[in-house]
Amino acid sequence: MPSKTCNVVVLLSGSGSNLQALIDNSRGEDSPVRIRGVISNRADAYGLQRAQAAGIETAVLAHGGFDGREAFDAALMALIDGFKPDLVVLAGFMRILSGGFVRHYQGRLLNIHPSLLPKYKGLHTHQRALEAGDAEHGCSVHFVTEELDGGPLVVQAVVPVEPGDTADSLAQRVHRQEHQIYPLAVRWFAEGRLRLGEQGALLDGQPLAASGHLIRP
Ligand code: GAR
Repeated sequence: MPSKTCNVVVLLSGSGSNLQALIDNSRGEDSPVRIRGVISNRADAYGLQRAQAAGIETAVLAHGGFDGREAFDAALMALIDGFKPDLVVLAGFMRILSGGFVRHYQGRLLNIHPSLLPKYKGLHTHQRALEAGDAEHGCSVHFVTEELDGGPLVVQAVVPVEPGDTADSLAQRVHRQEHQIYPLAVRWFAEGRLRLGEQGALLDGQPLAASGHLIRP
């Protein structure tokens, strides 16, 4: 058993394959990661079933019933904070978060994005990389700041684009890398090795490069 554990809350809207990777990587006795709760804005998100199968508490907060983003985010913060998280992990949570929400979790809010940021913020990243004729694509884990998909990078994995790739084939290979780098970043945080400094992300007290820790095939 590690001497100190890290309570994690995961937010998702969909399939939850990144949640699954986090669950699988936190099972061992030596992992400091404790996923305490999984929250979705969609009741039909398959990720909720993955959480329940792993014995993790789940909650649904549908945005339909709220009068605007600030009201939804306030309710979401209250729900998250009930789990007393050390870290909040966005794993395919497809909502734009308010400044108040992001500031509340400053330095303890991570996101994964399916591109080599700062390229291709937003949606349809695989199609956009193909249309641009990029030789390399990939995925990024970053601390969340008020700039959408723009916070300090922690780790990136490069995925070469192959002849004949479609958005789907490329997405599948990027997803496989997401399942490697997200558990890695979460573990670093849980071990106290990763934190957000004034100038950017620090690993073992050293500033990470602008691209974060870069993993190449
Ligand atoms: C992942 O590819 C993740 O990078 C992306 O949503 C997918 C969720 O997959 N997130 C974003 O695009 C955020 N901007 P999953 O539900 O199988 O983990």
